[in-house]
Amino acid sequence: MRHKVLVTRPIPDIGIQLLKSRFEVTVFGPPHGDIQDALAAVIGEYDGMVALLSDPVDERLLSAGKKLRIVANHAVGYDNVDVAAARRHEVMVTHTPGVLTNATAEIAFALLICLARRIIEADRFTREGKFIGWDPLMLLGDELAGKTMGIIGMGRIGRDMAAKCRAFGMEILYHSRHRIDADAEASLGAAWCPLDDLLARSHAVSLHTPATPETRHLIGRRELALMQRNAFLINTSRGEVVDEAALAAALKNGGIKGAGLDVYEFEPRIFPALMTMKNVVLLPHIGSATVETRSKMAETAARNVMAVLGGKAPLNPIPELADLV
Ligand code: GLV
Repeated sequence: MRHKVLVTRPIPDIGIQLLKSRFEVTVFGPPHGDIQDALAAVIGEYDGMVALLSDPVDERLLSAGKKLRIVANHAVGYDNVDVAAARRHEVMVTHTPGVLTNATAEIAFALLICLARRIIEADRFTREGKFIGWDPLMLLGDELAGKTMGIIGMGRIGRDMAAKCRAFGMEILYHSRHRIDADAEASLGAAWCPLDDLLARSHAVSLHTPATPETRHLIGRRELALMQRNAFLINTSRGEVVDEAALAAALKNGGIKGAGLDVYEFEPRIFPALMTMKNVVLLPHIGSATVETRSKMAETAARNVMAVLGGKAPLNPIPELADLV
């Protein structure tokens, strides 16, 4: 009998076709909306599942998944998964590292340059018919070259962001739990420093950490107060890393100059005050949203399901469950 695989919501077709070549596949829900109860009611029939970062994979779902052997998360981040529950229920969890590194760093860099050169504001200004002649004092921004970028979290995406910023002539400071090796520091031209120093010395700070209990509200009122008044904060990692109410207050009272956000603390809800601020650029979590990358994510998720249900080791187990391979 063919194994049954549930894909929680539509993903790029390459992933679906790969899965269909081996399994009976159900694409379960619509792109958005709460399907938790409905999922828990049917998951018992399935051997494998592909989940999105917005689908909670919790104790209830995992204990209902009596036959479930793998949850392939269609994302690199997997804070939607209760990893301890997956271990208890002996369900492998995989993710999609590597394939979205460039796309996500590109979005972080795009947010930076939009803020520094006031691109979104200038576009609105032009559409509103306010461009009535060249003006030496109009919409002056900040040049990136010679400024300091502070990168928090120096994994794959942090390093790629560092390289992009270097290419634009920026100095790089970074902070991460583990210092990267000296060769990597030298080739990136990046210097490690304590978090508080990084916040105080950087003209822009970009977040590239996963969401964990340790990184929740890593950037809060105290940290924002350490930042320069003309600094920008970029977040393309996870919303929970920033205390959004504290960020809104800092932006309102001039504590920092601007923020570029692709992710939100209570996604998809956004702290209302942020919606009205001119010095904020808001994106709808599109860090990995390129045709190339989303196809590779779908393919990676499908290949992990194929490996595990085919009796082989997963290609991309999450580090916490790598010992189960
Ligand atoms: C996107 O946010 C991801 O974790 O892949």
